Amino acid sequence: MKKGELILEAEKARTLSISPYSKFPVGAAVFTEDGKIFHGANIENSSYPLSMCAERNAIYHALMNGYKPSQLVALAVIGETPEPISPCGACRQVMHELLNPQAQIILANVKGKVREVTVKELLPFAFSPSDLKQ
Ligand code: THU
Repeated sequence: MKKGELILEAEKARTLSISPYSKFPVGAAVFTEDGKIFHGANIENSSYPLSMCAERNAIYHALMNGYKPSQLVALAVIGETPEPISPCGACRQVMHELLNPQAQIILANVKGKVREVTVKELLPFAFSPSDLKQ
């Protein structure tokens, strides 16, 4: 799958955002090693902190369809930001642990600006499952 195609899928997901409080719709799309796409958008509710980001919804969507983190090889996310959108800290932690470590992370904005990063670049010195072992 080409970068631009996955961004288009993230843009489609963005139309499903429920964001009446922030008025900031975000869309994401996860690509699996066997070519499937799973969408996610940010979903808010009146108890603001319970809202869920687009990236995590897309990842959980893929996992709930039976995929393992190692099979999730790319994620695109898009929002209306001046520069390519920058995922929040919670999403970076989830991406670090629940995507393939080599996954291609494509950050985009609606004006067509794109930046590609790795999970390690997004969250250096991350807390990891190995830290739970004494
Ligand atoms: N949001 C995302 O879904 N992804 C991001 O990368 C940044 C922020 C959502 C959370 C909240 O619903 C709204 O955007 C404003 O922060």
